[in-house]
Amino acid sequence: MDPADFYTGIVAELYGPLKSFSQDPEPYAAFIEQAGAPALELGCGDGDPLLELRRRGLEVDGVDSSADMLERLRRRAGELGIRVSVFHQRMEALRLPRRYRAVFLAGPTFTLLPDDAAALAALRGIRAHLAEGGTALVPLFTPAPTAAGEIGRVRAAAAPDGAELRVSVVAEQRDEAARTQTTLLRYERHHGSDSTVVERPWVMHWYAPGQFEELSTAAGLAVSAVTDPEGRPVPAGVSGLLHFRLRAT
Ligand SMILES: C[S@@+](CC[C@H](N)C(=O)[O-])C[C@H]1O[C@@H](n2cnc3c(N)ncnc32)[C@H](O)[C@@H]1O
Repeated sequence: MDPADFYTGIVAELYGPLKSFSQDPEPYAAFIEQAGAPALELGCGDGDPLLELRRRGLEVDGVDSSADMLERLRRRAGELGIRVSVFHQRMEALRLPRRYRAVFLAGPTFTLLPDDAAALAALRGIRAHLAEGGTALVPLFTPAPTAAGEIGRVRAAAAPDGAELRVSVVAEQRDEAARTQTTLLRYERHHGSDSTVVERPWVMHWYAPGQFEELSTAAGLAVSAVTDPEGRPVPAGVSGLLHFRLRAT
């Protein structure tokens, strides 16, 4: 399966009920206040934090490669009475009708691009969609391997229709040279005598120090700041979730 299609079908259905936390909207609201509007969220999924940012009156469009996730976002927006403008596209093949003062991903969604070629294409797309003086915000981290004790552990939740939803890690492969981790996830839906069980590979790709900066340079962007999610500057060599800010060169 193409990694851009991972969040479709049963995965999109189970994403909301099974997700362990929702993105904090504050860092992204602060980013848009600083960088200006309009803003664009890449990988907006089913609407966190885009819907909260729209509720606050911020002008934010969205892009996602999963039509199923966008359908959920539109449904939630309708229930909340929020108008949204979202596009079904891959971030590595962006083609949007306007440019943005602020382009961001919420959380480390950029690591879902499975290799450097896809990352470079996405960075070129970001560059092409930045308005004059615009800024991009790309959160990045290096995922830890799943602990042995977590393999096979089931997380469960109830669907609105009463079905039991389950997700578990079946196996994991890590390739340090390719900087890629592939986690085989099992998604299950059980309702009475009906059962659906699907296994899907979830790919994450990360960057050693300097590599993301190099790709950005090749895309016509320069890293203007590296901060923690609260916006505090981070000295070189510190790990964790880092927010890279990019400006056109
Ligand atoms: C972990 S979800 C995050 C969604 C949302 N921001 C949230 O926090 O709930 C990642 C989203 O990125 C989307 N995605 C993955 N690869 C993508 C790609 N290449 N282009 C655009 N969207 C992509 C997925 O479809 C999914 O909706």
